[in-house]
Amino acid sequence: MKQMIIHGGKPLQGDVWIGGAKNSTVALIPASILSRTPVTLEGVPRIADVDNLMDLLNEMDVESDFHETTLRINPEHIKMSPLPTGKIKSLRASYYFMGALLGRFGKAIVGFPGGDDIGPRPIDQHIKGFEALGACVKNKNDQIIITAPEDGLHGATIHLKMPSVGATMNIIMASVTAKGQTIIDDAAKEPEIIDLATFLNNMGATIRGAGTDSIRIEGVKELRAQAPHTIIPDRIEAGTYISLAACIGNGIRIHNIIEEHLDSYLAKVEEMGVVIDADEDSLYVYPAGALKMIQIKTAAYPGFATDLQQPITPLLLTAKKGEGVIIDQIYPKRTGHIAQLRKMGANIKVEDNIILVHPTKQLHGAVVSAGEIRAGACLMIAGLMAKGKTVINNADNILRGYDRVQEKLRQLGADVKIQDAPDNKDEEEKV
Ligand code: EPU
Repeated sequence: MKQMIIHGGKPLQGDVWIGGAKNSTVALIPASILSRTPVTLEGVPRIADVDNLMDLLNEMDVESDFHETTLRINPEHIKMSPLPTGKIKSLRASYYFMGALLGRFGKAIVGFPGGDDIGPRPIDQHIKGFEALGACVKNKNDQIIITAPEDGLHGATIHLKMPSVGATMNIIMASVTAKGQTIIDDAAKEPEIIDLATFLNNMGATIRGAGTDSIRIEGVKELRAQAPHTIIPDRIEAGTYISLAACIGNGIRIHNIIEEHLDSYLAKVEEMGVVIDADEDSLYVYPAGALKMIQIKTAAYPGFATDLQQPITPLLLTAKKGEGVIIDQIYPKRTGHIAQLRKMGANIKVEDNIILVHPTKQLHGAVVSAGEIRAGACLMIAGLMAKGKTVINNADNILRGYDRVQEKLRQLGADVKIQDAPDNKDEEEKV
């Protein structure tokens, strides 16, 4: 287990560069096996999920090489292998191998995906999609076995019950090589879906309407990657640094941003009174003055992202008066960070899955635990704001999703260290 040690209270300033989007990357790596030719991804973030996906590729005899921010994947010698256990459990996104293997081989055997502890995360819509394309889906010994009919998958019209990011991406991957036309109605509209469609279209797929709620896919025989694909910037990492800059920044410029991807987030931050200047692909966050309390409800894109409700929570604590309300409609039980913030002196509570936030003059250091990636981001910001030393246990969860985080925070002037947790529990508890 890793832990992040923070000596907080230092104002931060300078420049930070956002990496490629985690939630694109973790789909594009499995999608790479749809190509008959080598794939090059540029702007790949240094996160643990990438290492885990590379290990899974290796199990299928797919070579990969990650240098700086370029990931080369060669699926020319791929063998169809079951991916029943092991690494598959270590990340949610391993479920993309279902759609990718099905699209490439007409068969997938994949263990039930693992991932963050943020409440129930069913995959019924993914399965409904595969079945609509003609596949037979069976569950056996904690594995999902998906088999296309003998004459291959065929196009179909699929109405999703909700705009699921994972189901939309998985159905796209399975249907790019199906016979005929597939239509996904009520599809997710996240920028990461457009990124996947662009990546596949550049390999010869015919996907139209990505970014709208109706996506149409004309099946093609095979895909062949040619030019490198540059991954879009991570809007959630960007939002995390915007919150950090507003909480404890003394003027921070955040580079490599697509501002439009952050519209609903920026609207809320600016409603609080944070002043932000936008440039072509960067934002400058001024040191914050007296801030107003706000209410937030998460929603599917282009609404306020569930992945940004935890990172913005410390900012609400700095408001001068009033009661803040945060409701996560995507994952109502994504509230594990609240008990941890309370350990740091935050005046915050959860009632019936509604987070109620009250102004808090000063957080203090504590030993806390990051139950999932975004809870980790929230605690990291709180630790930087707090007086004294904060120890974030399970910091592995932060490393799963935040590109070169120690380096980036240090560049802004933070006193932060990521280290292996000591075996001795007493040592670990000392603050
Ligand atoms: N849902 C179902 N059935 C399904 C699929 C989804 O009921 O078959 C429900 C979920 O329970 C949830 C809602 O639909 O209430 C939306 O879930 P979605 O499928 O969109 O989420 P996901 O694809 O599993 C991705 C990201 C999450 C992010 C969500 C929402 C990846 C690997 N994960 O998950 O990212 O929170 O979309 O935007 O892309 C994170 O980065 O911290 C993270 C958890």
